[in-house]
Amino acid sequence: MRTLNFDVLTLFPGILAGPLNESILKRAQERGLLDVRVWDIREYTEDKHKTADDSPFGGGAGMVLKPEPIFRAVEALKAGSPEEDFFVISLSPQGRVFNHREAERLSRERRRIVLLSGHYEAIDERVKEGVVDEELSIGDYVLTGGELAALVVIDATARLVPGVLGDEESACFDSFGTGLLDHPHYTRPADFRGMQVPEVLLSGNHEEIRKWRRRQALKATLLKRPDLLQTVDLSDEDRAVLAELEKEIQQE
Ligand code: ADE
Repeated sequence: MRTLNFDVLTLFPGILAGPLNESILKRAQERGLLDVRVWDIREYTEDKHKTADDSPFGGGAGMVLKPEPIFRAVEALKAGSPEEDFFVISLSPQGRVFNHREAERLSRERRRIVLLSGHYEAIDERVKEGVVDEELSIGDYVLTGGELAALVVIDATARLVPGVLGDEESACFDSFGTGLLDHPHYTRPADFRGMQVPEVLLSGNHEEIRKWRRRQALKATLLKRPDLLQTVDLSDEDRAVLAELEKEIQQE
C-alpha cells in the first residue's frame, strides 16, 4: 500500500476542511492512502497583528504575500526530514495548466507534495526563487485564492492512487483515463417520461454495448473536444468509426 502525501500552506485552512472531510477523500485518509496536512501561514508570522501580506514595492493596487512567513512555514514542515523528501508546487494562474497527465504524474510522486496557495494578488518573487519547484494553474481564469486549486489538484490526483476508488467508482469516472470524453450513462427506469434508454444497453450483448459506448465516446469527443483526438491512441476500428461520424455530422 502506498500513501500520497500533501502539505497545504494557506491563510484560510477552513476552506479546505469541508472537501477533505467528506466522501472519497475522507475515506482515503482513513485508509491511510492519502495524507493531507494543512498549515496556516499566519501561524508563521512574527508580529502581533500576524501580518502575512504587504503593499507592493513600486506601487500599484493589491497586496503581496510576504516572504518570511512562507519560508518559515516551509522550513517548519520540512524540519527533521531530508530536503529531497519534498516537492513544492505554487498554485497560480501563471503556472502550467494542470490536466489528467499532470494528475497521473503527481499520483506516482513518492515525495511529500507541498501546495502553496496564495490569496490576494501575488506572492513575493523570492518565494518562487527560494522555495518553489514548480507552478501549476487549474485553468485560464483567476480564483480568489489557490485553496480551491489545491483541492482540485488533491482530488484529481488522489483518485488515481490504487485503492482510493472502489471498482464501481472508477468505472463511473473513467473519462480522460482513455483520453476521450465519457459515453452517456443511464440507470432505471428504462422509460422516463417518454425518454428511452438506448435499446442496445438493454440487450445484454456485451460486445455491442462496448462498441456503442466507444462510438459515443468518440462522438462526444469529436463534437465537444476534437483537440483531444490528436493525443489519443486510436485503433483501426476507432478510425473507421470516426470517419463514419464525420460523414454523419456533415450530413446533419
Ligand atoms: N490562484 C488563482 N487563480 C488560480 C488558478 N487559475 N489556478 C491555480 N491557482 C490559482
